Amino acid sequence: MKNILVTGGCGFIGTVFVRYVLQDTDFSGRVINVDNLTYAGNPENLTDIESAFGERYEFMKADIGDSSAIESIFQRYNIDAVCHFAAESHVDRSIVAPDAFIQTNICGTFNLLEIARRYSDRLILFHHVSTDEVYGSLDSGGFFTEDSAYRPNSPYSASKAAADHLVRSYWKTYGLPVTISNCSNNYGPFQFPEKLIPLMILNALDDKPLPVYGEGQNVRDWLYVDDHCRAIWEIMKAGTRGATYNIGGRCELANIDTVNRICDLLDDIQPRSDRSSRRDLITFVRDRPGHDLRYAIDCRKIEMELGWSPRESFETGLEKTIRWYLDHPQWVKRVQSGEYLKWVEEQYK
Ligand code: NAD
Ligand code: DAU
Repeated sequence: MKNILVTGGCGFIGTVFVRYVLQDTDFSGRVINVDNLTYAGNPENLTDIESAFGERYEFMKADIGDSSAIESIFQRYNIDAVCHFAAESHVDRSIVAPDAFIQTNICGTFNLLEIARRYSDRLILFHHVSTDEVYGSLDSGGFFTEDSAYRPNSPYSASKAAADHLVRSYWKTYGLPVTISNCSNNYGPFQFPEKLIPLMILNALDDKPLPVYGEGQNVRDWLYVDDHCRAIWEIMKAGTRGATYNIGGRCELANIDTVNRICDLLDDIQPRSDRSSRRDLITFVRDRPGHDLRYAIDCRKIEMELGWSPRESFETGLEKTIRWYLDHPQWVKRVQSGEYLKWVEEQYK
């Protein structure tokens, strides 16, 4: 791989992936990051990378659904590998306004695949980053394996499932060299504060209510974002073409336990002035419609085939995450106030 097209590189996981590939691997080629900068895309996440890596890092503002923009990027940069993150990613938003999810996650992926097919003579790999939510919901027993049936329950997961099927079909029908990864819930630096963990950290710091859906008994399998990015890179280097790999943290927690841990850690690191527990801020609110009860990943395939396993424990990962948000008040302020969106408008008008 010499010229990797990363889509959605200004979002949470894409940012960490771009940083990882350029800073922490022996990759010596170029990363071309294509992102259309929705509310979730923040190019400021990578300004230091832009200065440090010069021509080895390029950013292009473009929609993955725009055929001519994407085709000209394939031509201009001689793209030989794709790592496809770009998506609408938040389940609650998909319930309120599903349109963008269909457009980006399904039609955008289709457009990328079509262009990749046109350039398949030089394409080594199209890696599609997907989610465990395509498998639906588990009750208290069992795990999702690569052979679990697809049973998506939200417009978000249905759109990701459709994209997975398209990617797989391009392997079967056209022989496009693809891999797919289905990962559990990520957390870590740069995550947009609409998702559970950063929302709870920032609300708790501001003494705002911590809204827990339903009774807080839904279970998620948490994975530190660095571990996810390392898994994707292993798949890109050595994964079997046409294969799917499940990635998970072996770290199941009920939401209420996750939120309690955040409160307790914050109380240790930065106690409130009256020393009271931030657990007081927890408020049980109306449940998410169609709320999946439990996700849990069986990741033995990637462990056995590619030698990957999660390195970060939830205790250390959560502490690192909390400290990152505490150490980056400027990032938090610009994201919460929407200042970064104004900057984007100025830069790209
Ligand atoms: P995110 O919402 O933080 O980032 C998405 C990025 O995609 C943003 O930078 C956004 O601007 C960009 N984007 C959106 N629509 C676009 C379009 N039409 N054209 C170009 N760029 C566009 O998402 P994330 O949490 O970083 O997730 C990245 C990928 O990983 C997604 O495909 C998601 O489904 C998958 N995933 C996420 C998790 C998780 O826990 N966050 C877990 C498993 C899989
Ligand atoms: O499993 C992988 C998926 O994880 C990814 O594909 C998605 O892109 C990502 O957003 C995430 O989906 P979830 O819906 O699991 O994540 P979220 O952070 O929105 O919610 C985590 C759990 O916390 C879920 O059970 C809903 C609950 N929740 C969430 C929010 C935002 C609350 O109780 N209160 C909240 O305010």
